[in-house]
Parts: sequence; structure tokens; C-alpha cells
Amino acid sequence: MTARKDLCVKSIRRGFYLAKPVTFELRIIFLFTFFRISKRAVEAGKILITGGTSGLGFELVKIFLKEGYNVVTTGRNSIDMPGYKGKFSFCRMDFSDLSQTALSVKDICMKHKFDCVVNNAGILSPPVLTVTKDGLEYTFQVNFLAHLLINEIILREQTIDKSLNICAITSPVYKLVKEERSLLPGTQDYKPLKAYSDSKYYLASMCKELSARYPDRKLNCFSFDPGVFSSGIYRMQNPLFRLLYRIAAPFMRNPSNVAAAIAEIMRGTNFTDGAVYNIRKKTSGLPDTDTSVADEFWSNCYEKISSFMD
Ligand SMILES: NC(=O)c1ccc[n+]([C@@H]2O[C@H](COP(=O)([O-])OP(=O)(O)OC[C@H]3O[C@@H](n4cnc5c(N)ncnc54)[C@H](OP(=O)(O)O)[C@@H]3O)[C@@H](O)[C@H]2O)c1
Repeated sequence: MTARKDLCVKSIRRGFYLAKPVTFELRIIFLFTFFRISKRAVEAGKILITGGTSGLGFELVKIFLKEGYNVVTTGRNSIDMPGYKGKFSFCRMDFSDLSQTALSVKDICMKHKFDCVVNNAGILSPPVLTVTKDGLEYTFQVNFLAHLLINEIILREQTIDKSLNICAITSPVYKLVKEERSLLPGTQDYKPLKAYSDSKYYLASMCKELSARYPDRKLNCFSFDPGVFSSGIYRMQNPLFRLLYRIAAPFMRNPSNVAAAIAEIMRGTNFTDGAVYNIRKKTSGLPDTDTSVADEFWSNCYEKISSFMD
């Protein structure tokens, strides 16, 4: 009995010594893999990308999923990301309807606490005045006001100690706006370029405004000016515009390159709050505005969304 036990112990020892070099290597590989996975799990978090069904938003969805993030995206047309079950979800939202948008965001917030939000959904202003379900000019609401509502709901639904990085996709034309408007844009004297550039200016200003409104929160907000790139942005334009766009599209920047630049800034922890970044990651500020004019503008905006926030 004792002899058999000795034999057994000897064989185990021999096996251990024989296996030792292999085990050692395996242990190193295991530890290396474990630390890589756990580092990713710590770094990657939950991100909401508005308008992830095409163009820049879709490229952002792909990048952040590959990086291990849990991605939630919105749009009117649904998309699926096969291979990312449990990591990806789509929520149908039409930003021209503030009530539906608010209900959907509140529903998302019950399931997710976000680390990052990319305010990306947007349209090029239609050639003729279009009014939303809420009676507002379409571009103003879809590009800007719906995003203000979304960010406010997220901030209210999350705990005060939760950090949140917010990125807003603006446009080079935000620079066309010389001073902030005191009133919400009316439906008279509609000019598509002005409507679009105003909406993109307001969206960029939103980053500064949110930081100022929530000084005690771990909140970082920046805007990104992507320049011009090929996408489905022309969809609300007239047939001639759409034809010209399709001809020019192959010469435009690929949205995946733009998305990569945004992801790189978002990955960093030291981006400048309230700044507007460009594709080369250079920053610029917003034009100075009269404080009383800005105050009136923001109070008008909050008046419009307040009934949907609670
Ligand atoms: N393309 C450019 O050269 C360029 C230049 C400067 C800035 N930008 C900005 O970049 C952002 C992304 O645009 P993109 O060029 O990638 O255009 P895109 O391909 O047309 O994507 C726009 C996204 O916004 C969503 N969207 C549009 N209207 C909506 C609505 N009423 N409600 C909810 N979602 C809506 C669309 O989703 P559904 O259609 O599924 O609703 C889509 O996912 C926009 O903010 C745009 O202003 C683009």
C-alpha cells in the first residue's frame, strides 16, 4: 500500500517536473492574456451613439464595439451588428418628436449607465421649411434640441459620482454664426444654410453650457468638427444636390477615418473641456457671445424641453 503510494507520489513529481517548463510558459501566457482582457474590461465602458445607422455614426459603432464597449445606438431605421450579441443594442428614436425621444432615452437609462455619449445624429437642412411634431424648425430640433434633452435626461438619471464624457459632432459651418440668437429660431425667413450652421453652433455651445450647469459632476464635454466626408447626409436634399453629392463622394474623406480620430480623442482622459477639436486633434474655441443674450437663449431652450425631462 505504502509502496504504491510512493510510486504515485514519484509519478506526480516526475510529471510536475516534466510539465514544469510548459506550465511556466502557459502561466506567463495566461497572466498576459488575463491582464490584457481585464485592462480592456476596465477601460471599455458603455457608450451611447446617436444616429449610428449610417455614415459617421455607423463607423463609430463599429470602432467602439471592436474596442470592447457596450454600445447603444439610435436612429429611425434599425440596424443589427451580428457577432456582438449582448454588447450592442439599437433603440428606435425620431428626434423630430421630443416626447417619443424622451420616453426612449428614459427607458435606455433604466438599463444602462453611460460612460460616454456621442451626439452625432444630424441632417443637412431641407431646402424648404419643415416643422417638427413639436412645432419647431426641423434642423434646430433634430441636430440640437433633441440632443440637449437626451444629455439632460442621462445626467439626471445617473448618480452624481458617475463620470461622463460627452462629444458633440458639429460642422465647419458653425463658424458662420457670429453671435448667439436671443430667441429660438422662428419659422419665418427660413434659409437652409443658416438653419444648419446655427444648429451646429448651438450643439457646440451645448458642451460649454452643460459643463457650466454641472460644475460638481465628473463631466467632460467637447465638440468635434469633422470637416467634410462622404455619408448619407444628402438624403433630405433635392435630386440635383443628391446627384452632385454622389459624383463628389469618392473624393471626400472616408467616415471611418473621421470616426478613428474621434475615438482617439475620447480614449484620452485629458481633452479640453468645451473645446472644438478638428480631425488633426487641434482645438479652437467658440465665438464670444453676450452673456445676457446667451442666458435668454438657454432659458428658452430649457423651457421647451423641461416638460419632457421629468
Ligand atoms: N457628412 C459630412 O460631410 C458632415 C460634415 C460636417 C458635419 N457632419 C455631421 O456629422 C453627423 C453625422 O452625419 P453623417 O454625415 O454621417 O450623415 P448620415 O449618414 O445621414 O447619418 C445621420 C444619422 O442621423 C440619424 N438621423 C437623421 N435624422 C434623424 C431623426 N429625425 N431622428 C433620429 N435620427 C436621425 C440617421 O438615422 P436614421 O436615418 O436611421 O434616422 C443617421 O444615423 C451629423 O451630425 C452631421 O451634421 C457631417
